[in-house]
Amino acid sequence: MTPPLNIRRVSGALGAEISGVDLSQDLPDTTIAAIRQALIDHQVIFFRDQALTPQRQTAFGARFGPLNIHPYVTGMADHPAVMEVVKEPQDRINFGGGWHSDMSFLESPAIGSILYAVETPEFGGDTLFASQAAAFEALSPGLRSTLETLNAVHSAAREYSAEGHSARKRKSMTIAEADGLVGEYVHPMVLVHPESGRKALYVNPAFTLRIEGWKTRESMALLSYLFEHCRYEGFTTRFSWAPGSVAFWDNRSVWHFALNDYAGQRRHMRRVTVDPWPAEAASPASRAAETVS
Ligand code: SIN
Repeated sequence: MTPPLNIRRVSGALGAEISGVDLSQDLPDTTIAAIRQALIDHQVIFFRDQALTPQRQTAFGARFGPLNIHPYVTGMADHPAVMEVVKEPQDRINFGGGWHSDMSFLESPAIGSILYAVETPEFGGDTLFASQAAAFEALSPGLRSTLETLNAVHSAAREYSAEGHSARKRKSMTIAEADGLVGEYVHPMVLVHPESGRKALYVNPAFTLRIEGWKTRESMALLSYLFEHCRYEGFTTRFSWAPGSVAFWDNRSVWHFALNDYAGQRRHMRRVTVDPWPAEAASPASRAAETVS
């Protein structure tokens, strides 16, 4: 029989560290199911001292769903689903240096991301995570039920267009510019987790443009409030990386933020991003209608 995972919670709102498992192995289905359950229970899970080649990281990620090929960030030549997240000592801007949930700008957003640390700075470069389930639960019943009736429009344009933060300034990663035709997709502002039934806010400052059917000014009033609320320290945990560390987060209920506090040092990570199985993409997003401005 497979031994149970050793799981230790690291913060009140979310996060657990799992030990006693070697992610580079072909793990039995029971272990994969236990890891998946830990992810659902804790929203972000951490592993230490792993040795993942791009091939083994791909194999591990693929146990949880089809792997995403990022539309703008070029993957490794031999492993297109593996994105190298690199900041060189001379770079100023890092990747993921603002609160976001990965790929919310897609029609069918990624369910999870698995980040592996290859090289880490001597200090700094931590990643922050914020539970959007805890953020939702902390709102008043009145606002919660209002939000459950609303949808929001998401797009990659702000980050990846020619003027976008990601495309314009980063040197060490191959990032294509999204042209003017980048899509806008509508998702519910509150997602019900398909496995746990727990509700979470699903808007983020990087990719959410506006509330469907609302004027931009009206949208920003409510979204600004939510963006402030959602990053309250009590909803967060913070992970300090070392080479071999792995973080696996649930994009449906977690924001993350890569801190950029290690100027002059190198940080090298590899990410695979897990899409939903076709049957899991339960409520397909619709294309956004015209902006109400
Ligand atoms: C990301 O946003 O996927 C990158 C996070 C990190 O490098 O810590």
